[in-house]
Parts: sequence; C-alpha cells; structure tokens
Amino acid sequence: MFAIAVPGLGPIVSRELDRLPGITVQDAGFDGRSDFIVFEVARGGRGAVFDLGLTEDVFVEVGRTLRSEGDKPGWIAGRIWRPERVQRALSVWAEEVRPLSGAMTFRVIARVLQERSFMRTELRRQLTDAIQRDRPKWRFGDPAQIEVWISEYSAGRFVAGLRLSDAGMRQHEGRLVEREGALRPTVAGAMVRLAGDPDGLLIDPCCGSGTILGEALTAGWEAAKGSDIDPEAVEIARRNVPDADIHLGDARKLDVADASVGGCVSNLPFGQQYSVEGDMNVWLQNVLREMARVTRSGGRVVLLAPDIPRSIVPAQLRMRDRFQIRLLGTRTTIWVYDRTG
Ligand SMILES: C[S@@+](CC[C@H](N)C(=O)[O-])C[C@H]1O[C@@H](n2cnc3c(N)ncnc32)[C@H](O)[C@@H]1O
Repeated sequence: MFAIAVPGLGPIVSRELDRLPGITVQDAGFDGRSDFIVFEVARGGRGAVFDLGLTEDVFVEVGRTLRSEGDKPGWIAGRIWRPERVQRALSVWAEEVRPLSGAMTFRVIARVLQERSFMRTELRRQLTDAIQRDRPKWRFGDPAQIEVWISEYSAGRFVAGLRLSDAGMRQHEGRLVEREGALRPTVAGAMVRLAGDPDGLLIDPCCGSGTILGEALTAGWEAAKGSDIDPEAVEIARRNVPDADIHLGDARKLDVADASVGGCVSNLPFGQQYSVEGDMNVWLQNVLREMARVTRSGGRVVLLAPDIPRSIVPAQLRMRDRFQIRLLGTRTTIWVYDRTG
C-alpha cells in the first residue's frame, strides 16, 4: 500500500505507521505536491491505517518501477500495470470500497518530478491505454469509481495504485461547523501525537473551531480543554467537540492551574486570517510563559507557527523537535518542546 500526506508530515506518518503491528514502511518520498509513504501491511492490518487519521489518501499498490529500467512512458505504464498484480489490488479495492462490476468507470492521475524525457500527460495517456487493453469494459469517467494514481514519488521511482479513501469521507473534514482558518485534521492529529502518549488533560488555548481538541479525545486523552478570544469560535468549537470543555479566554492569561496539563497543543493565530494584538513577539512570549506555567514537568508543548525565535522561549521549554510543513502552499513549522524542571 501507499499513502500521501501533507508535505512535511511524511516522517511523522512513517514513524506512526511503523509502530502499528503488521506494518512495515518500505520507502518514502515527495512527488512535488504530497509526501509519500510506501508500506507493507500484513493481513488484518489495513483498518489501523485508516484509523491513524494522519494521511490524506490511502492506496492499494498496483506496482512500482524505476526510470532506469527504461525511461519511456509506454514502457513505464506496461511495467507498472501488470494484470496479475492488478487483480490482487482490485480485490482489496472491492473489499474496502464497493463490489466490482464488469463495467467500471476509471480515471488516471499522473505526477512526475521532471518532464525532461516525457510530459506527465503522456504518462497518463499511456497508462490509460494500458488499462483499457487489460480491462476493455472499463470506461473513462470524471468523477470515476476507480482512481488510478501513478506518481514519481522520488527521483526516478514510480509507484501506482488504486485510491481506497473516498473524497466524500473528507467532506467538512469531519467538522460539523466550518470556520475560516481551520486546521487540516491530519495536521491536528500529527500535532496531538507529537505531544506524546495521552496523559490526563490536553489544552488548546487558541482552539478556533476545535480541531485539535477533537483529535485529542480521539487519540485517548482523558480530557480536552480549549479556549479562544473570539466568542464565535467558542460557540463553533462547542458544537464541533461537545465532549471538550471550551471557554472564552485569552491565551496570555490562562484560567488553568500551574502544572496541571499533560499536553498543550495549539495552532497559533499567524497568517492571513488571524493576527494578534500588539507586537507579535511580545504576544508570543506571554503565551509561551503561560504554556510553560500550566504544563507539568515531562509534558509537552506543541505549536504550529511559522517562526518562534529561540530568544523568547522560556527556559523550562526545551526544543525537542521541529517539522517544516506546507499548508495550502505556505511554509510553516510544528515546534515540539519538552517541559523540563
Ligand atoms: C489559526 S486559528 C486556530 C484554528 C483552529 N486550530 C481550528 O482548527 O479551527 C487561531 C485562533 O487564535 C485565536 N486567538 C487570537 N488571539 C488570541 C488570544 N490572545 N487568545 C486566545 N485565542 C486567540 C483566534 O480567534 C483564532 O481562532
């Protein structure tokens, strides 16, 4: 199988997949738009991949090939679409998506890292032809029942597969009420995982529509508490995550006892939609001081923000990790701190 993820989340997804029983990560890459993780799943392990909630899409692999084995689009399509392997992939597709019928609609999505030898559109055409030779009753459709992806996921390496995840599953990203600037749930899920194993209370002091709080409860945190300075956000978050405790509040002065929190995870108000009052670094310094105060020793603070200057981070927060990611084409960073002392 393989999965795609938000650019920059690949290493986190690989690590989490490798921790699941029966799953072995074999390869990883980036095709110019998404991170790719290629892995093997033992019987019965597929459900856990979907439950992980960190991937944008999951595919059953049809084949892999290298440019070095013959760099012509027709040859690549022929090497990758091998009827006996396709048959096996189709039976997985039928188990996960819907029963197969003789006449299915299909379409091909092709991505290449460079177009020196051939264009991406030529690879798409050649793979479409190879599929039609193998499955004469299948018809092109858009949208289609079966989506076949072929991608150069690292220089010279191609993988192809059938998409198992359904776009309908992602409608509203699982949120009841949408609010501008809401975080992708896969990124929220990754941030919650970076806060470590669930340990009591997790807070998000800039909770917006509540995406992080929802992921925290799903991940097994006992309690999730959120606050936001915007009353409308509070109302929306309460509707999206009724099991979390959500209040109006300013992240610079948290209504939370000292050392009472196991994880503090937040998508800070940077970017086009949200700004902060006054000087950004002063704001951030005050917020970090509060986060350090409420997080117990051994807990973690995980933040999404383009930049957090080291000089304003309180001494009790020691940087553990940093992941550069891309969201809607914009670079930003997940910062992970250990609460020491
Ligand atoms: C990037 S948004 C969070 C989005 C959220 N993760 C979601 O999925 O909807 C940042 C939030 O910080 C809030 N905010 C701005 N200044 C704040 C402050 N001083 N205290 C608390 N929240 C604040 C904004 O109202 C906004 O909802």
